[in-house]
Amino acid sequence: MTAGKFLQTLAGMRFATPPIWLMRQAGRYLPEYRAVRATTRSFLEFCYTPEKAVEVTLQPVRRYMLDAGIIFSDILVVPDALGQKVWFEEGEGPKLEALTDPVQFGQLSRARLPDHLAPVYAAIRETRRVLPPEVALLGFAGAPFTLACYMIEGGSSRDFARVKGWAYRHPDSFGLLIDLLVEAIVDHLAYQVEAGADAVQLFDSWAGVLPEEQLFGWSLEPMVRIAHGLRARHPKVPIIAFPRGVGPAALMYRRTDAFSALSIDTAIGAHWAARELQPSICIQGNLDPIMLATGGPALKREATRILDKLGHGSFIFNLGHGVVPQTPPEHVAELVETVRTWTPSTS
Ligand code: CP3
Repeated sequence: MTAGKFLQTLAGMRFATPPIWLMRQAGRYLPEYRAVRATTRSFLEFCYTPEKAVEVTLQPVRRYMLDAGIIFSDILVVPDALGQKVWFEEGEGPKLEALTDPVQFGQLSRARLPDHLAPVYAAIRETRRVLPPEVALLGFAGAPFTLACYMIEGGSSRDFARVKGWAYRHPDSFGLLIDLLVEAIVDHLAYQVEAGADAVQLFDSWAGVLPEEQLFGWSLEPMVRIAHGLRARHPKVPIIAFPRGVGPAALMYRRTDAFSALSIDTAIGAHWAARELQPSICIQGNLDPIMLATGGPALKREATRILDKLGHGSFIFNLGHGVVPQTPPEHVAELVETVRTWTPSTS
């Protein structure tokens, strides 16, 4: 199989224009997604129905000829597989039966994970089979801290007071939860790779709520342990880290012993990233999803500015966070066109 532009970029090759895919490229902004979504009430059941997961994974790749697809699933399938109750409420996002004491951690178990998540691996196997060989397929997982946020808060949160309070007051028991998640995530990622995922992304969506002092222990170090654990089983698989909201502490995540690329959010300047991060590691990012929803000349200008800053080095074009539901689908086509027709200015 000839590796396409996305995998070759992760392996250090350069092209005239960078590869492009978008976080949350499969989602409610696409009418064809909404049509499939409408056939299943429960979001998790939707994730666990391989034919549907395969179809919605392929939709954006087909429509826009992106360089990578990301398997349609969710980061919360891991707590679900560990035995915590997880459900999604229409218009409210995820809900979990919140963990309130360490005794409850003891009831979570990795033993069920491979069986429980078998539909995810089946969807990956089938997607890889039908995807054109030059299009990469990404697997993914939430990083331990972000999963712990949902598991302890019981859903999304405004201040993360419960999870942070727990981590500050009882670091030893919080560490045990992180350890359990590290092991579960290594398993989940390894099974995805065995099913056909060509690369994986680790989403630490809430890393940025931690003070910088705590980032190493609760975000970076667990992610590095996962990367090393996965590499011990699959030495060559590329791993992309997305520590969202960490600001200049992104410097700490230039860990090429662990990660092949660093995905940066919108708050990080493309110019700063080109100077401080890109010489050490491949960068992915970082267009504002609201710029994509806005479209028009502003979108073209901003995408070109990012390309001018980062397109000369090792770079994967993406957003700084996921596509928002109000995005007109034509804007994605315009963005892909802008990226594919970019010509580096000589100045
Ligand atoms: O195209 C893709 O990116 C693949 C699928 C994917 C989903 N979630 C599908 C989804 C991926 C990679 C995720 C990751 C995810 N899930 C993250 C990390 C990335 C990030 O956004 O920071 C997080 C924090 C979650 C947890 C989660 N799942 C939330 C907070 C929500 C509700 C928000 C919303 O948009 O409704 C979900 C639900 C969800 N996951 C949807 C999709 C397409 C929307 C639900 C629906 O269609 O009914």
